[in-house]
Amino acid sequence: MTVDTTTQTLAQLGAATLDQVESRFTEIRASFDAEISRDSVSGDWVAFVAQWTGRKSGVLTRIADNWLKSAAPELKKVVGLEFQKLKAHVESSLESKRKEIESAAEHGAAARDRVDLSLPGAERAIGTRHLIRQTYEELTRIFLSIGFSVVEGPEIETPYYNFEALNIPEHHPARDNMDTFYIEGAREPHLLRTHTSPMQIRTMEKQPPPVRIVVPGKVYRRDNPDATHGYMFHQIEGLAVDTDITFRDFKGTVEYFVREFLGPKARTRLRPSYFPFTEPSAEVDASCHVCGGSGCRICKFSGWIELFGAGMVDPAVYGFVKNGYDAEKHSGFAFGMGIDRLAMMKYGVTELPLLFQNDVRFLRQFP
Ligand code: DAH
Repeated sequence: MTVDTTTQTLAQLGAATLDQVESRFTEIRASFDAEISRDSVSGDWVAFVAQWTGRKSGVLTRIADNWLKSAAPELKKVVGLEFQKLKAHVESSLESKRKEIESAAEHGAAARDRVDLSLPGAERAIGTRHLIRQTYEELTRIFLSIGFSVVEGPEIETPYYNFEALNIPEHHPARDNMDTFYIEGAREPHLLRTHTSPMQIRTMEKQPPPVRIVVPGKVYRRDNPDATHGYMFHQIEGLAVDTDITFRDFKGTVEYFVREFLGPKARTRLRPSYFPFTEPSAEVDASCHVCGGSGCRICKFSGWIELFGAGMVDPAVYGFVKNGYDAEKHSGFAFGMGIDRLAMMKYGVTELPLLFQNDVRFLRQFP
């Protein structure tokens, strides 16, 4: 680098005439011009500026120290003049280069931030409701449309509400398929409810007749997990009690529900059954939604699909409730559906665990 000459005095450099002095300055200037026009100068800008204008060892300082101070008297004036010219040139070049670098950087940032309005928008997947939630909403919608309201209740229950008040005394065989999880350490014994039916009692205790409710929620059983069983599933309970409710109201309501849920062509069949809290009790079947009743693999060639249990409220239940409920004056019907079961049946899902594994590849199929 030519600027090395600035570490020596002019005498040492053998510059004794005006011409020789001028050509030394010309060299320095040419070297500066070459360096400032390098492409890489913006990358080491701070070092470059220091190299030329640094107070201690910048090129300008060295020229002032080594050339100017020790210049022979007859050269002093011209060295001074040349130095001022060089200094002005260096400083103004640095200033305009600095502006150039800055505006290039701003330009780059602006280009990066510019919004291209012609691009398609970024689509954000907001997901879908879970199949169980969808079915839950469909079921409640159907019952809301005929004047039922929705209530919810505790998942941790007492044996009284879960069993006794529903006319299921201790040691009754109906408890056999309702083994559940018991909670130790509580002052009163508690359990995880095995069905939503306890809310029949809780609602009637709070609200004198008439009542018309559905109760969706989680229920628990000590079942061995398989394709259609788990330790937890969802039910929706229904209860209607008034002074003039007959079996015809029950049947009409059930048929309305089946047509709303499975389509106008679906037919309903009531099969005699048994529940301690209904009398008479029935299993509600619908004509197979796949084959329409002619028989197929889904309905096991019977033409019918079992939907849920139901019946007229057993008069004994009113005896547990009191609160203005009188078996002589009041009558009503009740039903209890498995939400998961209905969802699986309607949408052809064969494995219950799929509903709880939250694999989006499965869930996405039900937009
Ligand atoms: N609680 C019953 C169960 O979980 C279902 C049921 C049947 C509920 C008949 C009812 C009913 O309200 O009337 O198996």
